Amino acid sequence: MTPAELKLAADGGRAVAPEAKPGPVAAMSLRGMTVSYGEKPAIFSVDADFEQGAMTAIIGPNGAGKSTLLKAALDIVPRVSGEVRVHGQPLERARGRMAYVPQRASVDWDFPTRVIDVVMMGLYRELGLLGRIRGHHRDAAQDALDRVGMADFAHRQIGQLSGGQQQRVFLARALAQAADLYLLDEPFAGVDAATEAAIIDVLKTLKTEGKSVVAVHHDLTTVQSYFDRVLLLNVRRIAEGPVRTAFTSDTLAATYGGRLAAAQIEQLELGGAV
Ligand SMILES: Nc1ncnc2c1ncn2[C@@H]1O[C@H](COP(=O)(O)OP(=O)(O)OP(=O)(O)O)[C@@H](O)[C@H]1O
Ligand SMILES: [Mg+2]
Repeated sequence: MTPAELKLAADGGRAVAPEAKPGPVAAMSLRGMTVSYGEKPAIFSVDADFEQGAMTAIIGPNGAGKSTLLKAALDIVPRVSGEVRVHGQPLERARGRMAYVPQRASVDWDFPTRVIDVVMMGLYRELGLLGRIRGHHRDAAQDALDRVGMADFAHRQIGQLSGGQQQRVFLARALAQAADLYLLDEPFAGVDAATEAAIIDVLKTLKTEGKSVVAVHHDLTTVQSYFDRVLLLNVRRIAEGPVRTAFTSDTLAATYGGRLAAAQIEQLELGGAV
């Protein structure tokens, strides 16, 4: 498909998409999101509403477009079509309210950078390019490191930390931004149980503060205990809603197809036929 044809098809999909249900304004609403890196779309005409004050998991197989969806929502990758609203506002007006933790493998730290500086990078939007780092910026960064249990590592080189420690630092960078909406791409990938518990603690605290969390997540066994809502994605939106109703063996089978054995779904002790 050419980009023009794809846009046409995506817009066509939009027209039959269900209307947004009335209710409190979502932390983030996506409508008709289509992204294509080449001929085939990575995500196609995806609608989603991420509730305020909720923790939402985005799940789906490798290559389903989960990272692409987050990047498109942040305007990091261009979209063929689609609209993003954050707390009811267009993206340009709401960027300052969003914090993003990318998928870890995508960051390369050969350049010597101290941990505290990585965290302060999160403040550049507030600082502006020429803004001076002041005491309160440093305090905010140090405080964020403290919240993820990395206060003692502030002056270490980021490249010398373990993967799990780096992951905590990236979370600290997002925390320092004091955002309302946190988008995290696989925050638990490759971390040990202690780091996972520390991260989930921080995320649950954000939720009690009324903030919204959206995380790409791979471990299906923890979806029910960690998250309130779920978006199942495989290029298209397969299902979305409260974990209780949207995370079923049917929706999982539709999302993962043959890749998730029926036995695995059964182990999750979910309702519905496989
Ligand atoms: N920059 C890029 N250029 C070309 N193709 C890309 C690019 N980024 C992603 N893709 C392709 O788009 C599709 C979706 O990729 P994406 O990274 O969004 O998947 P994902 O659901 O996050 O997968 P994973 O679980 O492996 O992280 C894949 O087929 C991938 O190969
Ligand atoms: Mg990904």
